[in-house]
Amino acid sequence: APAPLVDTHQRRITYLRLSVTDRCDLRCTYCMPERMQFLPKAEVLSLEELYLLARSFMARGVRTIRLTGGEPLVRRDVIDLVRAIGRHVGSELDEVTLTTNGTQLASHAAALARAGVRRINVSLDTRDPATFQALSRRDALPQVLEGIAAAREAGLQVKLNTVAMRGVNDAEIPNLVAWAHAQGHAISLIETMPLGEVDEAREDRFVSLTDVRRDLETRWTLTPSDARTPGPSRYFDIAETGGRIGFITPMSENFCSGCNRLRVTATGQLYPCLGGGERVDLRAALRSDAPEAEVAGALDRAMLIKPERHDFQIGAGLAPTQPRHMSVTGG
Ligand code: GTP
Ligand code: 5AD
Ligand code: SF4
Repeated sequence: APAPLVDTHQRRITYLRLSVTDRCDLRCTYCMPERMQFLPKAEVLSLEELYLLARSFMARGVRTIRLTGGEPLVRRDVIDLVRAIGRHVGSELDEVTLTTNGTQLASHAAALARAGVRRINVSLDTRDPATFQALSRRDALPQVLEGIAAAREAGLQVKLNTVAMRGVNDAEIPNLVAWAHAQGHAISLIETMPLGEVDEAREDRFVSLTDVRRDLETRWTLTPSDARTPGPSRYFDIAETGGRIGFITPMSENFCSGCNRLRVTATGQLYPCLGGGERVDLRAALRSDAPEAEVAGALDRAMLIKPERHDFQIGAGLAPTQPRHMSVTGG
């Protein structure tokens, strides 16, 4: 059998984040500029290429495949890919899932559930319409809330993702958490990461989740949870709300030593680290005369260049650590 993926720091790779498009229908200010330059469609991998990649990673021990973007649901044929990958759930794969902004979820939730998705992560930074408009530059909060409701009705387990930002949504976080828990959803808070040039002073809005957690602990009783998802969230149970909260702390408490992930862009560039610049070209491998063998070789090379940790640095006046935008690899 082909060898499992293990990097030079003895980390076993079991989680693939596969971006299906760099496009998005929102323009979150911390993620991209208003005038974002998207890729020509011809550069993006076909469904067949994406599925071949998925199978190549499964053959090497990947157990979770998360489709990302941009916004994965703006790609028309994404459900076909989910269905194809979904057929492996229960054998090679533990789960196929998505990270979505929720705007198109209402029309896709039932089909996703039928295609084998059990759990989905939806980004929601605010429930205030004006804040949503200011943050995402689009007036789409009602659609997102409908999408979340539709996902629940379709039987999908929903986890909300909230980037914590000083002066934007930090005051609203307790409210957001209480609301999520009342709806039966877990919620993960995320620290802003310095990826890609954006129009705002993202640095000024950075808040450490250590501080946010301390604030939450003045209201509620947080107990470390045994719950795990394959990603970097560390979970706590809140006694008073009966719900679960996760903290994703790349800046304040780095989790790289437990990293089990690789990410591939919509054009087939494999980035072994969200924060690293080195990459391996899987599209060239896919479009060669011997795609399977070439992809396998490229995966071996990726294991050699996966860095020990990201080199994110945040501070006033610092340029983004990575010129690449978050929307290119979906996190
Ligand atoms: P599950 O644990 O499977 O629910 O997924 P997840 O929380 O890892 O995935 P999701 O797409 O919801 O990402 C939540 C946040 O975690 C996003 O901001 C990602 O950019 C971030 N994230 C995921 N993986 C990594 C990683 O390897 N390094 C860093 N720095 N951030 C990551
Ligand atoms: N820092 C942290 N999280 C980010 N996201 C997008 N850009 C950034 C950034 N610069 C979040 C989105 C989404 C997830 C995939 O990544 O809000 O929830
Ligand atoms: Fe789109 Fe997600 Fe970026 Fe917002 S954070 S612009 S929803 S890709």
